[in-house]
Amino acid sequence: MDEPQFRTIIEPFRIHSVEPLRMTTAEHRRQVVQDAGYNLFQVHAQDVLIDLLTDSGTGAMSRDQWAALQHGDESYAGSPSYFVFRDAVRELFDFEHVIPTHQGRAAEKILFSVVGGAGKVIPNNTHFDTTRANVEYTGAEAVDLVVAEAHDAGSDFPFKGNLDVDALERLLTERGDAVPLVMVTITNNSGGGQPVSLANLHAIREVCDRFGKPLFLDACRFAENAWFIREKEAGQSGREVADIVREIGSLADGMTMSAKKDPLGNIGGWLAMNDDTLARQCRDLLVLTEGFPTYGGLAGRDLEAVAQGLKEVIDHEYLRYRIRSTAYLGESLVASGIPILTPVGGHAVYIDARAMLPHIPPLHYPGQALAVALYEAGGVRSCEIGTIMFGRHPDGSEHPAAMDLVRLAIPRRTYTQSHIDYVIEVCQHVAAQSSSLRGYRIVDEPPALRHFTATFEPLD
Ligand SMILES: Cc1ncc(COP(=O)(O)O)c(C=O)c1O
Repeated sequence: MDEPQFRTIIEPFRIHSVEPLRMTTAEHRRQVVQDAGYNLFQVHAQDVLIDLLTDSGTGAMSRDQWAALQHGDESYAGSPSYFVFRDAVRELFDFEHVIPTHQGRAAEKILFSVVGGAGKVIPNNTHFDTTRANVEYTGAEAVDLVVAEAHDAGSDFPFKGNLDVDALERLLTERGDAVPLVMVTITNNSGGGQPVSLANLHAIREVCDRFGKPLFLDACRFAENAWFIREKEAGQSGREVADIVREIGSLADGMTMSAKKDPLGNIGGWLAMNDDTLARQCRDLLVLTEGFPTYGGLAGRDLEAVAQGLKEVIDHEYLRYRIRSTAYLGESLVASGIPILTPVGGHAVYIDARAMLPHIPPLHYPGQALAVALYEAGGVRSCEIGTIMFGRHPDGSEHPAAMDLVRLAIPRRTYTQSHIDYVIEVCQHVAAQSSSLRGYRIVDEPPALRHFTATFEPLD
């Protein structure tokens, strides 16, 4: 008999241990968010019902990851847990040197402390904010070279994370001496979690070879990116994800990594490379801030959990469910007439708040208005990615960001479809009342990274 085909893609796990959610009323949440100065970063997590602030470190560990914790060996030097971790990384990314760090930004800080500095230029498809901050902190310039399709909200181009190879070639021709390495972020988080194609990575490698430049990956969401390649790129459909990941790794000279994303850890990261001299310099810095090179800011048990997570994240059933469930949320919002960025990326859905709330001008923060309304209505915590996050400039001026988005990031293996159905209903409820939402003004803001601590007041 033929294998019956069913339409529903189920969560490929069942629940083994549960965490209660605290039910709250809209009245309670209105008070909470007012007390928090209308800043959702200041709201206590126990007052949040569905937390879509980030997919970073918020995933659920598996039974086998919890079991792996028991194998954690906390020896200061040469712990067996390091070798388990190193081998799990090398199984996918076969780099000579694998240097653990406590999270991704620590790997960035160390790498750019060595290769950055005044006068240097680091190209990337789009620098994630911590990457940009760590590049700029050294005095170097962070240049974004993502393809034009990435800026066209209406384009359904499947690889909007691609780097513009011609622009890279121009940069290397004009300022090549200033470029210590080329970076590519997979998937492109700041560009909507959009994937990078294998063809694009090959083309970048070819340009790097011609100009003699190392290529580094910011590979936080490598498995989601590989799944998109398998699903959308010509000639890739029959392949094992692990095989695609190995091909991606083979094109690079090194990587930075946050293990809080695809490696399914609650903490962790690493820096890896082939160059012995660079590795030596990085390890020297690691010892100053992170720890001995066989634990690098992590407990042995964290190394074990990440090693196990790396085995689980490349599972096709997991990735099918993961990417489908993000798409399910996106498609349901589109069907409800709510404007989002398309195609839907791997880890999040981005609502176009500027389009949804055209009566709120960018400098009255439509993303903030929407994020607060989602919280007040249904206890759903999201993240404004727009004029609050990017609108203030070093010279003190304020301008509208390119877009005013609200990101609904989906933690891995944490929420079920009924949680997501609830989120959809909350979004529909807020959309139905969108014309009554008001903008905000800032009462108080810090000099940098204001979105974390600024306080707000609703406008009349
Ligand atoms: C693409 C990308 N790079 C780097 C980082 C930084 O990682 P971490 O939060 O572990 O420091 C993140 C975190 O969200 C990210 O998405």
